[in-house]
Amino acid sequence: MAIHTILVTGANGQLGWELSQLAKSYPAFKFVLVDRTQLDLAFPETFEKMIYAIKPDCIVNTAAYTAVDKSETEKALAYTVNATAVQELARISKAFAIPFITYSTDYVFDGEANQPYLSSTNMDPVNYYGSTKSAGETLAMEANENTIIIRTSWVFSSHGNNFVKTMLRLMKERANLNIVADQKGRPTYAKDLAIATMKMIEAMNVGNTMSGVYHYANTGETTWFDFAAKIKAIAGLTCALNPIETKDFPTPAKRPAYSVLDTSKIEEALSLSIPHWEDALAICIKEINAN
Ligand SMILES: NC(=O)c1ccc[n+]([C@@H]2O[C@H](COP(=O)([O-])OP(=O)(O)OC[C@H]3O[C@@H](n4cnc5c(N)ncnc54)[C@H](OP(=O)(O)O)[C@@H]3O)[C@@H](O)[C@H]2O)c1
Repeated sequence: MAIHTILVTGANGQLGWELSQLAKSYPAFKFVLVDRTQLDLAFPETFEKMIYAIKPDCIVNTAAYTAVDKSETEKALAYTVNATAVQELARISKAFAIPFITYSTDYVFDGEANQPYLSSTNMDPVNYYGSTKSAGETLAMEANENTIIIRTSWVFSSHGNNFVKTMLRLMKERANLNIVADQKGRPTYAKDLAIATMKMIEAMNVGNTMSGVYHYANTGETTWFDFAAKIKAIAGLTCALNPIETKDFPTPAKRPAYSVLDTSKIEEALSLSIPHWEDALAICIKEINAN
């Protein structure tokens, strides 16, 4: 069945917003973008009625409980949104026989590796948020074996809350900043992830089969400290940056020392050439400055 109507949850999030911005470049598709007020993932029992009314040909679930530290105490809600709701969306997609794309995180891994995590590497979540996303993956796959899971990491955008925007603000307010320098990962521009998602939908529309777990992040790996240094350089700011260790910046949720994702599976499946994170960052900062 050809995909025409795409239901996107989490319309106000970074990825949901980037998809809404891309919509005009894809006139062949009708995007139905819903935010929390229209589809609240805390209430999975409400999904079926709404989805039946929309009759989408594909569901793209960008909504998630993403407050990593808060999830350590708000456990029930984080689990419902990231696991039970994803299971229900997968079940409904199977009943409607439509593709279901949902997103997961580098935090499903233990963070102790020293080479990139493959999409086939066993999950061993580093924190509670990671365990809710891991449960969401497993439950969705059980409910619908055709579920597409795209794990990503260190997401930034000109829209919403993220490291880039926080750094730009703090670097303007303060003379000095301490930044963790012993955690390594791959930043991801939500716009590039949105483009990859649309490529995946287009590939399915010409008959390519997609299912299972994929990883998407921008090319190149870095530390939060080097990420911040690049933000400072691109933005032309003068704040002094001091490298610190994870142990000097305690957080309620444990963070992985190493969470580099291997993206070769999605690159091969979609013949994707993924932009380098530094180039993506420059585009994002230009967009932030233009607003
Ligand atoms: N951000 C990252 O660094 C990161 C890293 C790895 C993986 N991911 C994953 O990538 C995907 C996209 O993340 P993102 O960066 O776009 O996240 P985001 O900017 O935090 O947006 C998440 C969206 O989910 C919505 N949401 C939260 N609870 C909801 C609920 N109960 N019902 C309906 N909507 C709800 C939020 O709504 P409100 O606007 O109303 O709060 C928000 O718009 C998610 O699956 C996330 O877990 C993100």
